[in-house]
Amino acid sequence: MEVERVQALAFGGLKELPEQFIRPAHERPENSKAVEGVSVPVISLSQPHDVVVKEVAMACQEWGFFLVTDHGLSPSLIQRLQEVGQEFFGLPQEEKEAYANDAATGKFQGYGTKMTKNKDEKIEWIDYFFHLMAPPPKVNYAVWPQNPPAYREVTEEYAKEMLRITDNLLQLLSEGLGLEGKVLKSSLGGEAIELEMKINMYPPCPQPELALGVEPHTDMSALTVLVPNHVPGLQVSKDANWVAVDYLPNALFVHVGDQIEVMSNGKYKSVLHRSLVNKERTRMSWAVFVVPPQEATIGPLPELVDDQNPPKYSTKTYAEYRYRKFNKLPQ
Ligand code: OGA
Ligand code: NI
Repeated sequence: MEVERVQALAFGGLKELPEQFIRPAHERPENSKAVEGVSVPVISLSQPHDVVVKEVAMACQEWGFFLVTDHGLSPSLIQRLQEVGQEFFGLPQEEKEAYANDAATGKFQGYGTKMTKNKDEKIEWIDYFFHLMAPPPKVNYAVWPQNPPAYREVTEEYAKEMLRITDNLLQLLSEGLGLEGKVLKSSLGGEAIELEMKINMYPPCPQPELALGVEPHTDMSALTVLVPNHVPGLQVSKDANWVAVDYLPNALFVHVGDQIEVMSNGKYKSVLHRSLVNKERTRMSWAVFVVPPQEATIGPLPELVDDQNPPKYSTKTYAEYRYRKFNKLPQ
């Protein structure tokens, strides 16, 4: 099927935003501005362990979102990851189309643009590339970008680092719930936990005040660890206000996702967030989704449920959770 890519549209000399990208009035960034003077938690992992656990627990309860510094991931690896992603999106359109995904046939990995099911639904100002990154036996390198040639080596190295960092984060989040460090990871599937990579590409937009890069949503994942380029745009919701997240070089942007909200029985919040687009500059971000395998059963952890704390969420497989969320069915 022929798909119009946002990148091709944006660089084709567009002056006005096409109708299908114009958000209804209440959703437009110009009518739902971020509050001033509030900023998201920033947590340095080089602090004493008990301080880190306390700060992480507080951030997960009050925001479902925080930035992490002193995580040990090298700035040069982040830079190389960004370079190979930019190079891919800089390829001629025909070359990128060879990787086109097709959700209708279950081909979720590859190059994509969000399409609408009915014509009243609005489209987001974004193209993306999505592929599995771990565990190794499930990874299909044939669907990764083959160009630039360094893409695989750089992204495999990034995947290894993400496994280490997300293990550490899951441990901190477990301890923040008063549990043993290994509980969240093992309940999510242990070594079967998957890492998905989504490269988000938001081209310059002729009327950014009328559009959204991604609509307000919570992530289906357990956790999401994102690095953006230097162009700001991410906003998180706090107490029903939007809070803009400033760029902080080399920081990791950590989102609590739906699965951890469920497992924590609501103690940790899955953060509502959205992204805005820019008139002159291309925004990009690299989101790593930490997800249980499809067959894993996810529900409130038994350690957190008793007569005083009944389960607030139902227990179901991740596959079923995804199906219901994609089809906007009640959970
Ligand atoms: C996402 C997302 C925000 C961003 O990919 O789920 O929320 O900053 N991205 O690009
Ligand atoms: Ni998201």
